Amino acid sequence: MSQTPAVRAVQVRRAYGPVRALDGLDLTVAPGAVHALLGPNGAGKTTAVEVLTTLRAFDAGRAEVAGFDVRRAPDEVRARIGLTGQYASVDDLLTGRENLVVFGRLHGLDRAGARRRAAGLLERFRLTDAADRPAGRYSGGMRRRLDLAAGLVHAPRVLFLDEPTTGLDPRSRTEVWAAVRELAGGGTTVVLTTQYLEEADRLADRISVLDAGRVIAEGSADELKSRVGGDRIDVVLGGPADTDRAAALLAGITAGAAAGAPRVAAAERRVSVPAADRMAALTAVVRALDDAGLRPVDVAVRRPTLDDVFLDLTGRGTAATIATTATAGAA
Ligand SMILES: Nc1ncnc2c1ncn2[C@@H]1O[C@H](COP(=O)(O)OP(=O)(O)OP(=O)(O)O)[C@@H](O)[C@H]1O
Ligand SMILES: [Mg+2]
Repeated sequence: MSQTPAVRAVQVRRAYGPVRALDGLDLTVAPGAVHALLGPNGAGKTTAVEVLTTLRAFDAGRAEVAGFDVRRAPDEVRARIGLTGQYASVDDLLTGRENLVVFGRLHGLDRAGARRRAAGLLERFRLTDAADRPAGRYSGGMRRRLDLAAGLVHAPRVLFLDEPTTGLDPRSRTEVWAAVRELAGGGTTVVLTTQYLEEADRLADRISVLDAGRVIAEGSADELKSRVGGDRIDVVLGGPADTDRAAALLAGITAGAAAGAPRVAAAERRVSVPAADRMAALTAVVRALDDAGLRPVDVAVRRPTLDDVFLDLTGRGTAATIATTATAGAA
């Protein structure tokens, strides 16, 4: 692509004392794309966003946003970006409308211009009815939508969203997703961070998987999924002893498979194995269980999730899966 990337980071490093928050971050975001930085707690997502939005100095490397060098031309960068942080920036005591007017004024709009802009954004994010209530009384989803609107007051070319839906209930999350999709549809480049694999899958054209301050994998959701060896077979057993037996058995048939050993979710009594060749693998699994006299409660072939991707890339799950999942012993 010959267009200037919306974001380009080359070997960016940032340490906090001994902690390497960014440890050679490489990132290229195409203009108009929705690009997700996906990673667990402490992966460096917020630090990356802070560096790219000029809020945080970095130790080495190069970063450009909207064609401008973050270090040499921070004002040019700031004029072209919006940011919705991990911790909300709107004022609880002001109404939604007042918040947006304040942001407009901060960005140099005159009073009438700021009011017009606020009204347009309130409409766009379906906040008109709530516009004159204090933001402190908004629901989680309304608040996040107001955050998004605040980040858009000056019509930025690149919008950074740090964990836009963390802590939201499923309904509010869906509302925010719809708002982000609409933005992207209008041509704004969106860089969002998330720990939710499903969120990256739903929203992003491209996903950079972050771990320990660097990108460990990148691609579309489908590319990342196919990298882990395609589909998986999940077998649910009737009890803990059966689960252990099934894990040992299935380790035998998948030994040597590129995508690795079976994974066991003990609490759910589930064993999951890679199944690049769906039907052959399914037949082998069912036959092996049957020969051993094991009666599964359920056997299902499924598309891999991004959780599988993370497990395969790092050998460990995200916080959400570590609790219930362990890799089955020797294959
Ligand atoms: N101001 C700071 N001082 C010291 N260490 C910091 C600071 N900010 C971040 N860190 C450390 O840098 C690493 C990366 O943190 P960062 O906040 O960028 O991760 P993150 O991916 O945003 O995590 P989370 O999902 O929890 O928001 C972590 O080990 C963190 O403890
Ligand atoms: Mg963070």
